Amino acid sequence: MTGGTRGLGLAMATAFLDEDATVVCAARRAVPLAGLDGRHGDRVRVETVDVCSADSVRSLMERVMRRFGRVDILVSNAGVSRSGKIADLAERDWREVLDTNLTGAFYCTKYVVPCMEAAGGGRIINISAGMSSRVAPGAAAYSASKAALEMFTRASAVELAKKGILANCIAPGFVNTGMYEPLRDDERLRSRYERTMVSGRPGEPSEVAAAAVFLASGEGSYVNGHVLEVNGGLLWS
Ligand SMILES: NC(=O)c1ccc[n+]([C@@H]2O[C@H](COP(=O)([O-])OP(=O)(O)OC[C@H]3O[C@@H](n4cnc5c(N)ncnc54)[C@H](OP(=O)(O)O)[C@@H]3O)[C@@H](O)[C@H]2O)c1
Repeated sequence: MTGGTRGLGLAMATAFLDEDATVVCAARRAVPLAGLDGRHGDRVRVETVDVCSADSVRSLMERVMRRFGRVDILVSNAGVSRSGKIADLAERDWREVLDTNLTGAFYCTKYVVPCMEAAGGGRIINISAGMSSRVAPGAAAYSASKAALEMFTRASAVELAKKGILANCIAPGFVNTGMYEPLRDDERLRSRYERTMVSGRPGEPSEVAAAAVFLASGEGSYVNGHVLEVNGGLLWS
């Protein structure tokens, strides 16, 4: 679980732990995992990784293989958002978003494939966003990174199926955690975004985590190259 130390990644990690999986939560900072209070014992581990660096991702996979001997599920969840209208958007912000959200998923997929092949197959779940197919001024970098991530996932599905590896995306809408919190806490922004939420509320992290567990489970065995929107219904305007 990249980006597994907080927000949505931590919620998905918790859901996988509740399904008796062993989970590696990887992020740039190895912080204590809030709310897990030791109840999962040795089945959860925090590792450092910077998904923008191929060497760092390769080293993570090597450490995980040395420790556990296999990787069955990869959730590429690490992501950042930098807003700014195109004419004003800093070049470093554009690069950070694309490097993390898109190239990071490429590195993780590239270096997890040999591990999954050795185990006879696996599941890759990339975390996209509703913004992959909706337009908001100031969100060009984020939207473009997520749209490209979805196409990368479809390409992964086609290339990796014969190795027994399935690749899918989850595209959450607004979820009550992580990068949604600054929007939620800003009254003006919240009322603007709430108008697009058909169900009248943001999603809960557990509702997205349930979709991830499904895609990783036996029930998801013939779902491949799919983008599963988990957003309660989102308006296009
Ligand atoms: N929350 C929402 O409403 C929402 C909606 C749609 C989609 N999403 C997607 O869900 C994912 C998680 O979002 P979130 O809201 O949970 O965000 P968050 O709370 O900001 O968490 C982001 C996680 O990614 C890690 N991370 C960031 N850059 C990284 C890097 N270069 N290498 C490794 N780890 C990195 C962070 O840890 P470090 O900073 O320590 O590295 C953190 O663990 C993202 O892909 C986001 O686009 C979220």
